[in-house]
Amino acid sequence: MHTVEITPPAARFYSVVPAPTSTSSPAGGENATIWREESFGPSTERLPLRNAWVEINLAQLRRNFRLIGADKPAALKLMSVVKDDGYGHGILQVANMAIGHGVSSVAVSTLHEAMILRDAGFTAPILMLGERHGTELPWCVQHHLAVCINDITTAETLARTAARVNKRVPVHVKIDTGMARYGVRWDAAMPLLEFVAKEKSLLLEGVMSHFSQSDEQDKGYAMLQHGRFLGVLEAMEAARLPVHYRHLCNSGGYLDLPQAHHDMVRIGILPLGVFPSQVCRRIEGIRPVMTVKTRVSGIRTLQPGECVGYGMHYRANEPRRIAVLPVGYGDGYPRLRNRGHALIAGRRAPVIGGNAMDATMVDISDIPEAGMWSEAVLMGRQGSEEITARELAQWKGTVTYEVLVGWRTRLPRVYLDE
Ligand SMILES: Cc1ncc(COP(=O)(O)O)c(C=O)c1O
Repeated sequence: MHTVEITPPAARFYSVVPAPTSTSSPAGGENATIWREESFGPSTERLPLRNAWVEINLAQLRRNFRLIGADKPAALKLMSVVKDDGYGHGILQVANMAIGHGVSSVAVSTLHEAMILRDAGFTAPILMLGERHGTELPWCVQHHLAVCINDITTAETLARTAARVNKRVPVHVKIDTGMARYGVRWDAAMPLLEFVAKEKSLLLEGVMSHFSQSDEQDKGYAMLQHGRFLGVLEAMEAARLPVHYRHLCNSGGYLDLPQAHHDMVRIGILPLGVFPSQVCRRIEGIRPVMTVKTRVSGIRTLQPGECVGYGMHYRANEPRRIAVLPVGYGDGYPRLRNRGHALIAGRRAPVIGGNAMDATMVDISDIPEAGMWSEAVLMGRQGSEEITARELAQWKGTVTYEVLVGWRTRLPRVYLDE
């Protein structure tokens, strides 16, 4: 395993600048503005690695995509959901790996995410999830982005925008089958589908929905949603509305609801090696891609009666040896009080006291090998021990998804490959 790339701490400044008029300014968008990224510049790029970082194992990511490719029915298409910086793993790295390993398209939530991909030369299909403001539509047309459409007004604006530049935009009509988030209600969807199908500047590429709960034992609500989706598909068939892709499964749906696969599934968390729940089906060999590490940056000995950290939440009963880890809730690590562990020398060191924005103290009395600059694992495996995203989610009172995306950009991403 060698390091292939280190992304410097992605502390970035954003400024509002006029959209460039030559290549990227969409029709009617001369006065539009977009947030543009400016890096710190070369002086920070040469900085030594911070003593806390996120490792992304590209070899495991590749393996996971291959395992999913081998697991799925041959005709089923995969869309990789790479929003929120590829769930914190790096949008470009995940999107490029996906496309190189059997995935035919990616999905993002924001125009900025799509532009990061396009600016880097990513030419594969991109689907914009969610809802688009009218000012975003020219950008979608210009940069060949497929658009989720939830209502007639946006469909009309998109049709006009595309017609103005003689383009045909792929559209995925979103059906709300019970999530009550985006989409047209299942029982009122036909007028929108018919409108999109007849507009010459729009291509009815997809019809889609999204499960509220697909990965738990009780599939009752998922079945209700699927039934509503099937009703829409039947009505489309009766009205002879052709569509390329019918899709509603996320990772949980892919694993547990094969009857709902249709033409395509949209998977986000599964290729990253984290199963969406504890009860969903497992694919042998899929393992987490992300590990979060730090190094001991202080060692002290506590005498009986002495306290640790803000709020004096821990008081030693006997002499204790403790290590300071230079990571805290400012990095996306949970704010803890005498709860949680880090791994040092392959063993669990309990978090003691209350941790801070930049520091967490652990008890290493039983780990004599632990010394200054010893490597500590906050999430991931060390030796035969492992701290999972699920465990961190419990400590944080949240879900694994939030743990993955929660690691802040002040932790540099280090990409490893075989
Ligand atoms: C519309 C939509 N489809 C698919 C996904 C992927 O979900 P998962 O990461 O559970 O595979 C998401 C993620 O939240 C989503 O919002």
